Amino acid sequence: FADIKGQDAAKTALEIAAAGGHNVLMIGPPGSGKSMLASRLPSILPPMTIEEAIETTKIHSVAGILPPGVSLVSERPFRSPHHTLSCASMAGGGKNPRPGEISLAHNGVLFLDELPEFDRSVSEVLRQPLEDRVVHITRVSGTVNYPCSFILVCAMNPCKCGYYGHATKACTCTPKARLAYTAKISGPLLDRIDIHVEVPALDYNELSRTEPAEPSAEIRSRVIAARAFAAARTEGALTCNGLMTPADIRRFCRMDDAGGRLMQTAYDKFALSARAYDRILKVARTAADFDKSEIIRKEHIGLALQLRSMSKKYWQ
Ligand SMILES: Nc1ncnc2c1ncn2[C@@H]1O[C@H](COP(=O)(O)OP(=O)(O)OP(=O)(O)O)[C@@H](O)[C@H]1O
Ligand SMILES: [Mg+2]
Ligand SMILES: [Zn+2]
Repeated sequence: FADIKGQDAAKTALEIAAAGGHNVLMIGPPGSGKSMLASRLPSILPPMTIEEAIETTKIHSVAGILPPGVSLVSERPFRSPHHTLSCASMAGGGKNPRPGEISLAHNGVLFLDELPEFDRSVSEVLRQPLEDRVVHITRVSGTVNYPCSFILVCAMNPCKCGYYGHATKACTCTPKARLAYTAKISGPLLDRIDIHVEVPALDYNELSRTEPAEPSAEIRSRVIAARAFAAARTEGALTCNGLMTPADIRRFCRMDDAGGRLMQTAYDKFALSARAYDRILKVARTAADFDKSEIIRKEHIGLALQLRSMSKKYWQ
């Protein structure tokens, strides 16, 4: 992250995503650094455990993509499939069933760049694996299961021309074309993304800065500490907050009075669904883990709300 200038909101979002295993959507104009930010996410994730490295190696080996001479994949995978890929390449399967992109990304990051360009059927096949973290592939000889636990990162422009909401450039899309663009994204998929963040164009001051930003290693050490705090709460049963079930959420996400009041206000004001409510609590839980706080405070709820509601304007 040292060579990524500015984009503090996006960096915070990715840091929280790394600690909690939350899925992220980044929205911004061309060239603002979305692809760059996504590709650096593995550098702030904790190193893989030996068990994770073995699992990932097995999948890469079955898929035949293990580079010659490599016996163990030790870096977390970063997969960035093109939007023209088929459902079978995404989920796995086909004539000679092979693990798909979702399994190749196991223990790492799956990056969908230009999200609206993906075929709806391709993003629909992500629904079940995102919930279950395992994919069942049917073949002639029976069913095979491949694990697929990954952080999903998506990127998109705010509209077809790319400049809606831009500080200096005008958007040339009609309101109708703008809405048609964001409407291409599958609702159920969007619903499974806990964090939405804007990645605006850099202003000249930020771009021309020469001092390096905070290096990945420092961010990673905070991520590791936050994960350790969270893991102690569940005695290691859950590796990250993103995996909490509704029952876990009831049990582990207690708010203080001010946090509860803010949540209630937001619930009424934004007409949140029960599912959105749970997602906000999960992200707030992760924010509180950075502060080593068992109780979720108002500022944690505030941050989680911000990370959720930022993109609303692009859908209305
Ligand atoms: N915040 C940044 N700090 C440093 N360099 C940047 C930043 N943003 C963009 N760049 C430079 O611009 C190039 C393009 O950035 P990137 O591909 O990440 O943009 P993008 O947001 O993915 O754009 P698009 O919407 O066109 O895909 C990068 O390779 C990098 O050299
Ligand atoms: Mg890009
Ligand atoms: Zn536009």
